[in-house]
Amino acid sequence: MKTVLVTGGDGQLASCIKDIESNYLDFKFIYKNASELDITNQEQIRNLFESNHFDWCINCAAYTAVDKAEAEPELAFKINAEGAKFLAEASRKHKVKLIHISTDFVFDGNETYPYSEQDRPNPINVYGASKLQGEKHIESILKEHFIIRTSWLYSKHGNNFVKTMLKLSQDRDKINVVNDQIGSPTHALDLAHAILKIINKNNNAFGLYHFSNQGEISWYHFATAIFSVFNRKINVQPIPSSKYKTLAKRPRYSVLETNKIATEFQVEIKGWKTALAEFVQLQ
Ligand SMILES: NC(=O)c1ccc[n+]([C@@H]2O[C@H](COP(=O)([O-])OP(=O)(O)OC[C@H]3O[C@@H](n4cnc5c(N)ncnc54)[C@H](OP(=O)(O)O)[C@@H]3O)[C@@H](O)[C@H]2O)c1
Repeated sequence: MKTVLVTGGDGQLASCIKDIESNYLDFKFIYKNASELDITNQEQIRNLFESNHFDWCINCAAYTAVDKAEAEPELAFKINAEGAKFLAEASRKHKVKLIHISTDFVFDGNETYPYSEQDRPNPINVYGASKLQGEKHIESILKEHFIIRTSWLYSKHGNNFVKTMLKLSQDRDKINVVNDQIGSPTHALDLAHAILKIINKNNNAFGLYHFSNQGEISWYHFATAIFSVFNRKINVQPIPSSKYKTLAKRPRYSVLETNKIATEFQVEIKGWKTALAEFVQLQ
């Protein structure tokens, strides 16, 4: 039986892993939430790795408040960069394979084609820069790593765009949603399946991968699709980002190319519409 440590154990992605862990009976999953394991506390990490044997660590812990990060960059870097570094160091010492999750926001969004793993990151906000620094630490410290960049996560857990839209549709008759940021919404449950498939396969194809559901749309189009599948009557107006000011700049285009993970691990890349329909079925 292989033992898998999951950090950030109460977060959205970790909760999705919990939902499907019973499909993987050869693995024992140990979840640590932020109060049980603070990944910025090197001593805590050392003690945990010394007193337990882990085969894998899935790092779902992160500072994910994209706008707030502009106001507290030190904390964002501490969690997303230094925390990732501490986990990589402990993983190297104890021969643990590390799966780390990163983001489409490492890109500046100036391209017009899906970003591949070879494309040059150039973050335009603090969150993206802190996540990129985390990737670099892991790559320089630990060979046995998988870094998976993903985008626009939603699920039944935590706070996400789908849940926000559904809540707004209960409270309002009309909303404005930006239509000039293009990306790929991704059901976090599909990402959880992809991660566990990588662990189950246990090959040595370490490195950087992109995973998202397929297809590219704006937040506005995604909002209209959500209201349509959930039968919500609300007037949605498209607006440019210039009319919806946020603390953090966001990439105009951040679609990820997912061929590498699909080929290497036979991971299914569902279209975003299929994934959204499956999400509806789970409600
Ligand atoms: N959500 C998205 O749209 C999205 C898009 C692209 C990539 N990603 C990446 O995907 C991964 C999973 O995201 P998610 O949506 O599951 O995020 P999430 O729901 O915000 O979960 C992150 C978890 O990390 C915990 N955490 C924060 N600081 C910590 C620390 N110092 N030590 C240990 N745990 C800590 C949080 O706990 P508290 O809540 O108690 O602080 C939270 O439970 C992250 O790496 C994120 O950067 C997310």
